[in-house]
Amino acid sequence: MWVKILVTGATGHLGSLVVEKLLESVAPGNIAVSVRDPARAERLRRRGVDVRRGDFDRPETLKDAFAGADRMLMISTTGDNETRIRQHLNAVAAAREAGVGFIAYTSVANAGRSTLSLAEVHRATEEAIRRSGIPFCFLRNNWYLENELGTIQAVVNGAPWLTSAGSGRVGWAPRRDYAHAAAAVLTGEGHENTVYELSGPPRTYDDLASELAAVLGREVPVQHVDDAAYADSLRKAGLPEPAVAMIVGIQQAIRQGALDVESEDFARVLGRPLTPIRDALREMIGR
Ligand SMILES: NC(=O)c1ccc[n+]([C@@H]2O[C@H](COP(=O)([O-])OP(=O)(O)OC[C@H]3O[C@@H](n4cnc5c(N)ncnc54)[C@H](OP(=O)(O)O)[C@@H]3O)[C@@H](O)[C@H]2O)c1
Repeated sequence: MWVKILVTGATGHLGSLVVEKLLESVAPGNIAVSVRDPARAERLRRRGVDVRRGDFDRPETLKDAFAGADRMLMISTTGDNETRIRQHLNAVAAAREAGVGFIAYTSVANAGRSTLSLAEVHRATEEAIRRSGIPFCFLRNNWYLENELGTIQAVVNGAPWLTSAGSGRVGWAPRRDYAHAAAAVLTGEGHENTVYELSGPPRTYDDLASELAAVLGREVPVQHVDDAAYADSLRKAGLPEPAVAMIVGIQQAIRQGALDVESEDFARVLGRPLTPIRDALREMIGR
């Protein structure tokens, strides 16, 4: 069956990995990407991928960008909640107008009830997609392991692992596993009107630090601090105040269980086990 698959955000980290995975099993001519800057997708165009210009902030670009897509991966954008909600609603409206046959959307763990402030974006977007009547799959991505890269690098350089998340658990997995799950949904069958909680086995920061310790072959001390002390450490590292507030808010939400999700969906959608966390850590730090 001939199916045109469209990926938005294909010049971003996740989107590039999704397109690479698609290219393993889908003819390039059946893949389209919608990107803000087609020059950055020139390498894909040369490989035969249909590169289109689409900016969620410029709705007039989206009807053509999404035209003819049987299946679309809508990758959530970045920025403040208000901006992202506006952009996502533009994209959903355009997908409807363009007659897109299926939307997979990168949401967040437990979007319906999450206490993460960014979950507001995902609730609003999931609702808009449901209302559009387009068959959907919500990929409720838990946490990229790569989100911890700054801390991991600091630990590799001798710092203790600092956290204010207490014994809150997180379903970390490497970004590549999330990308492969998205590609599996785009190329597979039977994913219409589904919600997948894509969470690795939930772990605390102590658990993650001990996995890193095993990779480094030495102890990794974990310092549990309160939010104020955590915020101070971020300020000392030179982070601007809005970033400090956002990161501390995430630690708070983790402490309250916002990313503590137990689900078998991830391996089932991938059709393989998740990358073992120790292997993913090893790859991240080049050991
Ligand atoms: N679960 C997690 O742990 C986690 C962590 C980080 C992010 N996320 C979410 O997952 C998404 C993908 O992650 P990522 O690592 O690939 O992030 P990323 O590299 O920053 O990618 C974000 C993508 O959004 C695109 N974008 C931004 N504004 C847009 C607009 N106005 N119209 C169309 N596209 C727009 C960007 O386009 P350009 O390529 O043109 O810049 C980029 O491709 C993020 O955007 C964020 O919503 C999840």
